[in-house]
Amino acid sequence: MYFINIVSFILLLGVTIAIIYFSIKYRRRSNEDTTPLITHNTALEVTWTVIPLILILVVFGWGFNDFVEMRTPPADAYEVYVESYSFGWNFEHANNGIIEANMLTVPVATPVRLIMRSRDNDVLHSFFVPQFRLKQDLMPNRNTYAWFEAIRPGQFVYFCTEFCGTGHSMMNGHVNVMEQEDFDAWREEELDRDLDALPLAELGQSVYSSAGCQGCHSLDGTSRVGPTFQGLYMSEREFTDGTTRIADEDYLVEAIIDPQAQVNVGYPNNMPNIYEQTLSEREIMGLVEFIKELE
Ligand code: CUA
Repeated sequence: MYFINIVSFILLLGVTIAIIYFSIKYRRRSNEDTTPLITHNTALEVTWTVIPLILILVVFGWGFNDFVEMRTPPADAYEVYVESYSFGWNFEHANNGIIEANMLTVPVATPVRLIMRSRDNDVLHSFFVPQFRLKQDLMPNRNTYAWFEAIRPGQFVYFCTEFCGTGHSMMNGHVNVMEQEDFDAWREEELDRDLDALPLAELGQSVYSSAGCQGCHSLDGTSRVGPTFQGLYMSEREFTDGTTRIADEDYLVEAIIDPQAQVNVGYPNNMPNIYEQTLSEREIMGLVEFIKELE
């Protein structure tokens, strides 16, 4: 980039100075001034062809080298299958069976190769981590690939950068980069965690963050894209069709699996209609129990 910028700047400067100089030197001085017949100058024409050709070939060779490096992950890369859907992400770690929802955890200083596909049969998504300079589309019927190596630990935001529908703006999350020993500890913990053994409300709490509910539903009474979960249970809900209903367990389950059937007054009708497929029966019951505890 610097090379291209500096070369362009020098050329711009040269051309501009030449234009100004020629405008003054060859300006028309009187009505008798006529332009002599000029055909060509071989030496000049060869020079202004060959010098840019060399410059462009340098840019091409340099860029091609970096492009090949950018597209070719090292053979020992850590592999993650990335699946996108309307509207969320699953990250499955290829070698140890961990599946993360809307969050990717990787070790620092390790090449990570992403094998990516869209689960929707007619919608593209695009995985974009600005701080990694990494962007790649996900398609329904073929794999795409990308790789990166994070150079320091931290949390880095990713976005979906292909406009894919009403929930497009909710398709963001974090790449969690950990020191190798923290990552190993995290992996042990993930593998040991037996979700079936968790009490329902605790399971619900973990689903609340992993399935992305927290993006739209607060726990402290503040209004986000959707109503807060605090005090939701057994409160009276008012819907856009003019009906009302008490938020009992039946209502909570229906609002999770078919959110567009009844829409709360004052909120947009844009909760994705996916949780019947992406959450298990037990996870949905867990969420209901979790909400019930938020008096
Ligand atoms: Cu998925 Cu935008």
